[in-house]
Amino acid sequence: MFTYEQALEKLQKYGQEHALRHFAELSEEEQRALLDQIEGLDFSMIHYVHDRDELPARGEISPLGAMEIPEIEEKKDYFRQIGVDAVKQTKVGAVLLAGGMGTRLGSDNPKCMYDIGITKHVYIMQRLIENLMDVVNAADGVAVPLFIMTSDKNHDATVGFMKEHNYFGYDPERIWFFKQEMAPATDYDGKVYLEEKNRIASSPNGNGGWFISMDRAGLLDVVHELGIEWLNCFAVDNVLQRMADPVFVGATIDSGCAAGAKVVRKVAPDEKVGCLCLEDGKPSIIEYYDMTPELMNAKNEKGDPAYNFGVILNYLFRVKDLEKIMNESFPLHIVEKKIPYMNEQGEYVKPEAPNGYKFESLVLDMIHQLDSCLSFEVERWKEFAPIKNKTGVDSVESAQELCKKNGIEL
Ligand code: UTP
Repeated sequence: MFTYEQALEKLQKYGQEHALRHFAELSEEEQRALLDQIEGLDFSMIHYVHDRDELPARGEISPLGAMEIPEIEEKKDYFRQIGVDAVKQTKVGAVLLAGGMGTRLGSDNPKCMYDIGITKHVYIMQRLIENLMDVVNAADGVAVPLFIMTSDKNHDATVGFMKEHNYFGYDPERIWFFKQEMAPATDYDGKVYLEEKNRIASSPNGNGGWFISMDRAGLLDVVHELGIEWLNCFAVDNVLQRMADPVFVGATIDSGCAAGAKVVRKVAPDEKVGCLCLEDGKPSIIEYYDMTPELMNAKNEKGDPAYNFGVILNYLFRVKDLEKIMNESFPLHIVEKKIPYMNEQGEYVKPEAPNGYKFESLVLDMIHQLDSCLSFEVERWKEFAPIKNKTGVDSVESAQELCKKNGIEL
């Protein structure tokens, strides 16, 4: 069992011994919980708050063309057939990344439980399952295996919600839940927050660890047993998300690429979406905040913006290529977020504005570790209705509008 002395030594190594300041006031059980948490948490990345120069620099960025809608339309039937066959043979699994905290939306429940209905209940999870059912129906009823990633913070609520709603009609035998890892959250000075006297503030460590977490949960055995060759990862918060989409699956398989990414045409050069490109000759995603004015204004030979396609967090990965890269290390992202914490007076504070850092790895960085990626254009209004904020851009309201435009009753 991890002792107080061991915990203190570990914390001192990372300048975090303040996490034990209430130790003497705690019951034996609370003390145990805190020591166990300290044993399990990795603090080694925190120093990058002060040493950001040590984080690897970006390589040379150049454009990557996309397979655009007219070309896709022309070959649609051919791609669809390949995709439907793959789904029928259970070669495709879907991975719902639902471990995030949705701090911008600010709901206490997991995002998948959010109700976007107007005249009836339409939960985000329900919308996703409805879309997945379209694929199941196209594949003569073969249910796409669905792996749902949660975190310590929302696991029980997510699983309970799915059970309560009878999995929205999906076959529960084809659904697996797994938890992602957690990382400590700090103030701007790199000191961990406490969220209770016996608990360090921690948050899910980003969506990039999904494959490792699936492996830790023993789910790669399921992937192999079922003969799954492709995993389609997608975000929980796009209510028009089309996962295991046969046309996309077929086009990616046909391309011979190790991965595929759904992209939309950007509305403006400075739109806040990650952009699929090449970095040192390998596929990569450059975040909007890393786009220089030169990159934003660059044109291709057709005179179109050279970095014109934004990712929508819908990626198809070939499993055997993921297995090759799974032990490689990931870039670290230090992200400003709102972190609830307990103040010096012992009061719980839920900040209105960002007050510190979370440490995340991102699924988009996996693309750069692979040799090739098909950039696959989809129609924005049909497939991209993310819910990030309460109001305004990418909000419940904008998503409701887009659902209506697509004939979805709310
Ligand atoms: P976001 O980047 O929107 O993060 O996640 P978030 O935590 O949900 O929301 P904010 O930024 O706090 O408002 C994009 C997708 O990745 C998942 C989310 O659930 C969402 O589907 N995600 C994010 C995880 O699965 N784990 C994480 O640690 C972070």
